Amino acid sequence: MPMSQVEVPLSGLADFQNSIYLQGLGDVVPALPTDLTKLEGLAERALSAQAFGYVAGSAGSESTARANRAAFDKWRIVPRMLRDVAERDLSVEVLGTAMPSPLLLAPIGVQSIFHPDGELAVARAAAAEKVPMVLSTASSYSIEDVAEANGDGPRWYQLYWPKDRDLAVSFLERAKAAGYTALVVTLDTFTLAWRPRDLDQAYLPFLRGIGVANYFSDPVFQKAVGGPITKENRDMAILHWVANFGNPSLTWDDLIFLRDHWDGPIALKGIQHPDDARQAVDAGMDAVIVSNHGGRQVDGAIASLDALPGVVEAVHDQATVLFDSGIRTGADIAKALALGAKAVLVARPYAYGLGLAGQAGVQHVVRCLQAELELTMTLSGIKSLDGLNPDILVRA
Ligand SMILES: Cc1cc2nc3c(=O)[nH]c(=O)nc-3n(C[C@H](O)[C@H](O)[C@H](O)COP(=O)(O)O)c2cc1C
Repeated sequence: MPMSQVEVPLSGLADFQNSIYLQGLGDVVPALPTDLTKLEGLAERALSAQAFGYVAGSAGSESTARANRAAFDKWRIVPRMLRDVAERDLSVEVLGTAMPSPLLLAPIGVQSIFHPDGELAVARAAAAEKVPMVLSTASSYSIEDVAEANGDGPRWYQLYWPKDRDLAVSFLERAKAAGYTALVVTLDTFTLAWRPRDLDQAYLPFLRGIGVANYFSDPVFQKAVGGPITKENRDMAILHWVANFGNPSLTWDDLIFLRDHWDGPIALKGIQHPDDARQAVDAGMDAVIVSNHGGRQVDGAIASLDALPGVVEAVHDQATVLFDSGIRTGADIAKALALGAKAVLVARPYAYGLGLAGQAGVQHVVRCLQAELELTMTLSGIKSLDGLNPDILVRA
């Protein structure tokens, strides 16, 4: 019997581990490292200095980004033994979307600076792995083109809420028509923060016409600049983007507007304070995403993982709590779920995977995280996501 047909002790998502070792018998080793913390260093060598600075950089002295990672080390898992973990199930449904594991691909803008196929490659990877992708408003390919690349894969849409309300409605209508089933509204980035890596290179991709595909392809946007975007009106279109990108005057009362124009589930991204989480529930939101944008917005801010328990307590089962900012390993996912998140969004690691190996690089990142999560759980005596609760953790 060929080795590949032997029944292995761990099937499921952890089977990725078996396939790596089996390929090794033919002298094939993984093209990318399986310790995903190593991707950043490789990406630094592979990407242009501008693209690398854009993805790896954070706000100010980058202390929030460091705190995001350090917060995971403050919690340790306490493995338990003899608990029959022969059958495991990591699948979950979040906001009406079924997924093989509690993992989504976070919204990341301007992906064509990492790889020419950008969001199209990510959409294909997401569909192949059946993992939901969250498409950014600031994508390098349009809502419709990404949907086509994603096929019948699960997809959500992330809104950067523009000043022009008609433009916001147009984005929502386009996303709905193109099969995006949930709306993520990012609240923490109505303007870009002080980001020294980008400032020192005087690099903002949007001003170069990258990451504005959804705007330039939009009928409302086009009408505002006098017609389809051409060489002649391109600069004016970019200035119109600058004037419209974010709206610092929004308040909680404005959320009614979104409810009126989006009939699917809505998640608010960028929540860190328990009172904001409670206000989200009061406003009838379906979910909050505990996130500090990977430390890219407020330097010196609370680590996202440190904010999670307070938000979970405040929401008290009245809304779904999702988490991002600092996820690099399967163990990180286990800790975030143990502290009350229903699922996590992975971000920079898949952007590095995209930059290093396109669609295959994104799939590699997804498979590594899923396999590592399943192995972490199994070896800790946990066979389903319900088993991930604060009792499995101690403070370091
Ligand atoms: C290059 C880059 C672009 C991003 N673009 C967006 C975006 O368009 N919309 C959004 O809501 N979040 C965006 N984010 C934030 C991510 O969705 C996520 O919150 C953050 O990266 C999590 O931190 P981590 O990557 O360190 O885990 C971006 C992050 C990076 C690194």
